Amino acid sequence: MIITVDGPGGAGKGTVSLRLARALGWYLLDSGALYRLVGLAAEQQNVALDDEAGLSVIAEQLDVQFLADQNDLVSVILAGQDVSHELRTERVGGLASKIAVLNGVRTALLVRQRAFAQPPGLICDGRDMGTVVFPAAPLKIYLTASADERAKRRLEQLQSKGVAAKLCDLKNDILERDARDMNRTTAPLKPAEDALQVDSTALSITEVVDLILAEAKRRGLMHEILYV
Ligand code: DC
Repeated sequence: MIITVDGPGGAGKGTVSLRLARALGWYLLDSGALYRLVGLAAEQQNVALDDEAGLSVIAEQLDVQFLADQNDLVSVILAGQDVSHELRTERVGGLASKIAVLNGVRTALLVRQRAFAQPPGLICDGRDMGTVVFPAAPLKIYLTASADERAKRRLEQLQSKGVAAKLCDLKNDILERDARDMNRTTAPLKPAEDALQVDSTALSITEVVDLILAEAKRRGLMHEILYV
């Protein structure tokens, strides 16, 4: 059982995917974290962001552990070092988007991503989950929101952490990242032909989660909802 959740950054995929995984008691694949890890490891090892061979080796040999505590909070350990916070920064998101254009990196991460599939099911959050990594998934979601709304959400998220940022800078970053993710030749960000497109601009997280759970139920994908 696999549900894919693809879409541009800031549409709410991360939160929605986590809520779906908890509601169904399924595993969660945050594929963006793998790309972020390769970007971060490259930076740490001084490997250039266009060195496809070097980056592919990093992707193949990525020494990473995802450790969940009792509250399901996941710590990401890269080569023995906790990088959970650094991984979520805009800077590392930008590195990830740059190395994600490279075919060798994507191929190296493909096997690793597919290995996450296990019973009772997997929720996959990314850009090409429904188009490339799990093309046979029985439910594919393409989650979007306007760039203005995504920038506003990001600003609120940063402000809640006490980080100063400007709305116009965040919107520019979002548009730049969208363009790179959508226009690359390998596995560009686009809805799978059979994806259900959900625009979250005017919807709450709970409304999006409920809508997806209702669709999963309609398609006979779930036995029970643990909690929402
Ligand atoms: O979802 P995220 O912001 O953590 O992803 C960071 C970058 O990684 C994103 O801009 C593009 C890349 N990425 C990708 O190319 N394919 C995926 N399945 C997930 C992320």
